[in-house]
Amino acid sequence: MPDINLNLNVRGLPQSATLVINEKSKLLTQQGRQVYRLGLGQSPFPVPQPVVDELKANAHQKDYLPVMGLPELREAVANYHCRREGIDCSGNDVLIGPGSKELMFILQLVYYGDLVIPTPSWVSYAPQAKIIGRHIRWLPTNLANELRVTPEEIEKLCQQDPNRPRIIVLNYPNNPSGATYRLEELKQIAAVAKKYRIILLSDEIYGELHHKGQHVSISRFYPQGTVISGGLSKWCGAGGWRLGTFLFPRSLYWLRDAMAVVASETYTATSAPIQYAAVRAFQGGDYFSQYLFHSRRILRAIGKQLTRKLQKIGIAVPEPKGAFYLFLNFSAFKDEMKAQGIESSEDFCNRLLEDTGVAILPGSVFGRRSEELSARLAYVDFDGHEALEASQKIPAYKSLENGFLNQYCHRTITALNLICDWLSGCK
Ligand SMILES: Cc1ncc(COP(=O)(O)O)c(C=O)c1O
Repeated sequence: MPDINLNLNVRGLPQSATLVINEKSKLLTQQGRQVYRLGLGQSPFPVPQPVVDELKANAHQKDYLPVMGLPELREAVANYHCRREGIDCSGNDVLIGPGSKELMFILQLVYYGDLVIPTPSWVSYAPQAKIIGRHIRWLPTNLANELRVTPEEIEKLCQQDPNRPRIIVLNYPNNPSGATYRLEELKQIAAVAKKYRIILLSDEIYGELHHKGQHVSISRFYPQGTVISGGLSKWCGAGGWRLGTFLFPRSLYWLRDAMAVVASETYTATSAPIQYAAVRAFQGGDYFSQYLFHSRRILRAIGKQLTRKLQKIGIAVPEPKGAFYLFLNFSAFKDEMKAQGIESSEDFCNRLLEDTGVAILPGSVFGRRSEELSARLAYVDFDGHEALEASQKIPAYKSLENGFLNQYCHRTITALNLICDWLSGCK
């Protein structure tokens, strides 16, 4: 069938890049190839057992729940933000959805304004804006500033048309770079957002995976205009459960309510058993503190080791401060790659997958120029359950040594060595 009746905003759009690489990797695996999956950004860690138990206990929950979410869960999420961030909030401020991705889409749908995002940015913000028909404005970043957006760049953009409605997305710890912001930087960004009355969508889905557990929400400095986005997918290892949360200030209830209207006419409500189980996750407690301590310690150690190895062979890559990503720049190998017919980040990632079985994502899907030869590596191809158990046996004051990583995260380490060897072969 020809696609002539497709909505113009959707025509020609490919499926989300992270899902495509996953399918491609699966296909190669089925063909008997060894594939290292550093493409899809999925937590390597298991869902904490108390949350799994709660899901089992609530399998019988069959009724549709209120569109904004289960009241106990909304309350638990508000308490969590209050505890974690010192934000004064209540269950009324919370909207539960089937993944924060869906909530972001609905936000863009109901709010008429430009979408302002840094480059690089997570793969789905821009396609969502395209589907809805919003303007996208990219904010440049550079390696010297570890790919973080500056208040000056936001100011420069807003000055051109001060009264234009805008949503700016600030995502930290960041996908794809692992970067985060210092307090002073958050204050300055918040001040510009306030000056231009921008809606600040603070995507803090990796907040709990700040490698030192020191995440601070920008909402502290611009509460009236900030929506905090979060969920179970990353810190709780439950991406497939599909549960996301938005926290609104009272001044933005009109947005929350408009989103609830769309939710009521589309997905109705988030899955009931998942919501009951999520209450346990947001209640927190010792089990979760331990789980997060070990998750962070493992991620910090891998991030550090991989960064060192890559920098040593001339790849430009900022050391991650949170989450499980590295954003690599291969410019130093540009001439050698050109000699091999590789002229774009897509060429590079395809060739790397074919030659070594290592799957990573091209920088172009994060809003970088194709010719830049950049890519995102998700350092998650290891058995998180095994690694957590092993980390629990090592005293808390110690950091994890290379021996630990070679034993418990060997697939990721091997994949990195394959990348390094492949690049050395280019020279
Ligand atoms: C930066 C960022 N934001 C949002 C999401 C969406 O998460 P979910 O829809 O699972 O809540 C992801 C998932 O990869 C992400 O990396």
